[in-house]
Amino acid sequence: MAGDLIVDGHGIDRRKLLLGGCAALAAPFVQARPGFAAEGGAPLPIPPILEADGAQPVTLTARAGSHSFVPGIKTPTLGYELDYLGPTLRVRRGRSARIDVVNRTDDEISAHWHGAFVPGNMDGGPQGAFAPGKTWSARFDVHHPAATLWYHSHVHGKTGTQVYHGLAGLLLVEDPAAPDGLPSDYGVNDLPLVVQDRSFDSSGRLVYDTSGMALMGGVLGNTICVNGAVRPVADVPRGLVRLRILNGSNARFYDFAFADGRQFHQVASDGGLLPAPVARTRLPLAPAERAEIVVDFSGDAAPVRLISSSVAQGGMMGGGMMGGGSGDRGTFDIMTFAPQATAGAGPASLPASLPAPPFDLGAPVRTREIRLDMHAGSMMGSMFRRLIGGGVMGINGKSYDMGRIDAQLKLGETELWRVSAPMMTHPFHVHGCSFQVVSRGGQAVDPATEGHKDVVAVDARGVEILVRVDQKADKATPFMFHCHILEHEDAGMMGQFTVA
Ligand code: C2O
Ligand code: CU
Ligand code: CU
Repeated sequence: MAGDLIVDGHGIDRRKLLLGGCAALAAPFVQARPGFAAEGGAPLPIPPILEADGAQPVTLTARAGSHSFVPGIKTPTLGYELDYLGPTLRVRRGRSARIDVVNRTDDEISAHWHGAFVPGNMDGGPQGAFAPGKTWSARFDVHHPAATLWYHSHVHGKTGTQVYHGLAGLLLVEDPAAPDGLPSDYGVNDLPLVVQDRSFDSSGRLVYDTSGMALMGGVLGNTICVNGAVRPVADVPRGLVRLRILNGSNARFYDFAFADGRQFHQVASDGGLLPAPVARTRLPLAPAERAEIVVDFSGDAAPVRLISSSVAQGGMMGGGMMGGGSGDRGTFDIMTFAPQATAGAGPASLPASLPAPPFDLGAPVRTREIRLDMHAGSMMGSMFRRLIGGGVMGINGKSYDMGRIDAQLKLGETELWRVSAPMMTHPFHVHGCSFQVVSRGGQAVDPATEGHKDVVAVDARGVEILVRVDQKADKATPFMFHCHILEHEDAGMMGQFTVA
């Protein structure tokens, strides 16, 4: 492996080894170790803003590209407009968005507005896939409160590889009628952070390998990238800085913290602002979850590191904890902030309260049980079925079928969904709405600290959520509910529903 981009090739070697041996049973939940030694430290790339507030249609062209994750090494990638990932789309509440998505790749793609309140025919899900050479004209009114949403391709069976190669970007909703008083100078004291783990081969190509057991836990990379740069450094003013963090990884869970253990404030979760800033020292984020935090760098002359603890993905077989690479056992580096001598022009203190959307879902009119299944039968049986090509991931015993409607919701009616996941922790996502987490493992959840969600980590203890969808979706373009470990979704851990 000498000369490899991944200096720590341990994870890959081990996976190969496990695939061939009788240790294979332990493999699904063993995480590839991040490539701690791979060279990082390039400046944090800031994706350009693309204003999509309806004044004119904007174009988002999906295409193949060539991107340097590490300076000097070119990697074949995909992107929307850019070589890798896409611009930060900015839309305004109360306006309409007009986005022409052009497919210049050599495969079908889509553009799903993850988290947005748009009707099914504008949602860009599996039924919204379109062929190379075609253009999809997305037109929707922006009803969503201010939030950090995102967009990504969502072609059934191909979402994992397309997102891994770069078909994703941020979608920021601004609400001009509800100023939040938070740092908002994009790229200066309001930084987008798309955190992803990737693996590269010796020529610098992305490795996306779902063969065998890698599928079970999802594809994990061994190199941390933020906005497409390996463990970058961001210059920040010595003041309050807002970080909009998207876990844009296919399968990796993070538990973010600062290396010095400092406190920060969470101000928003997936679907918008919290009612007031919440003081925290750690921030767990499952795949596809977002959080906005505000960090105070006003007293910092030295660089400040953002790290993550290793998160057990399996829950069984020990969960495959990773060894440490940055000195502390069980943690690894995400990126570094370099506070500059200038104070910056942002707000000097955090507002005491924030213009959060209300929690007004009311009492549920019905209850649904949703079980995320790794398999239809036994674990052994499922592995063998997977090896011979059968879909084994599912929901309530059924693997995803584009032609089958799994649930019919009534417009504006609140339901209680009891979601459980017996085998491991899965990030459960629902299209077309934000939901409210009511309880986790039987314990009541405080909406003021959890916020409005569209993804929630679910394990064997179960999670209850209140779901109300105010957007219509017919059976030609239904909404999805699925695991956001993209390999699970592609393997069929997804269902779909209409809203009428
Ligand atoms: Cu992030 Cu069904 O999507
Ligand atoms: Cu979505
Ligand atoms: Cu899953």
